[in-house]
Amino acid sequence: MFPLLLLLLATAHGLDRLPYKPTLANSSLGGLTTTSTFVLEQPRCVFTEMQDNTVIWLVVAVRTAVRNFNNSVGPGTPERAFQKFPTSTPAYMTLNTTLLNYPCPKSPGEFTVLRVGSETGCTTDETRPTCNGPLPGPGPYWVKFLALKDSKPVAETAWSEPITLRTARQPSSIPMMGSGRSAGMIALTSILSILFAILLAGLVAMLVFCSDICGGSSTFSKPEAVTVRRYNTHHVYDQPAARL
Ligand SMILES: *[C@@H]1O[C@H](CO)[C@@H](O)[C@H](O)[C@H]1NC(C)=O
Repeated sequence: MFPLLLLLLATAHGLDRLPYKPTLANSSLGGLTTTSTFVLEQPRCVFTEMQDNTVIWLVVAVRTAVRNFNNSVGPGTPERAFQKFPTSTPAYMTLNTTLLNYPCPKSPGEFTVLRVGSETGCTTDETRPTCNGPLPGPGPYWVKFLALKDSKPVAETAWSEPITLRTARQPSSIPMMGSGRSAGMIALTSILSILFAILLAGLVAMLVFCSDICGGSSTFSKPEAVTVRRYNTHHVYDQPAARL
């Protein structure tokens, strides 16, 4: 009796709320988030209760749309158009595919990700409101998958964690950064070259003076005299020792 009641309630409600949270694909693929795109794991083994011809849509939203999102506003309508996001509409729907394309389980080694924002040909084309166009800023964005059967919402996942994209450097700050860095490099290079020049000059001077004095003195048999003297003293000390 009780399960039957629950089933009735569920069908009356009409929408299956799945606990699955869309997640960014793991980083082993590299470059997963750019300034205008991000990569999600496909919702595999998530809509297991649905029929194969159920259409799965991705909803991309800014914060204001997350709380009271209206699942009944269909994809392709002006309120869900990519071209109006996020200034006129806080969410758009894209990347529609039938559940057949998200088979469960996924075979090993298979690419099972979705790149959001990869379609550049329809960015301003209002006849293609479901365009998977480049995201208009760093976000943050929230996403969820919504399953439609005969254009009616039948299941949805939870909203993702906020997704923030990489920030492009402000165009004005690039030359500033560049000149600042190059000024530092120039200063460092000059200091290093001056130090090197001083070192080199010292070395040259030493060589010149040494060939005049040190080098000359060494050829002047001074060391020889020393060795001779040492030899003598050694002899002198050695001889009495030998006598004893
Ligand atoms: C996605 O939706 C658009 C517009 O509703 C439709 O023209 C297109 O055939 C759909 N694509 C898939 C793969 O379901």
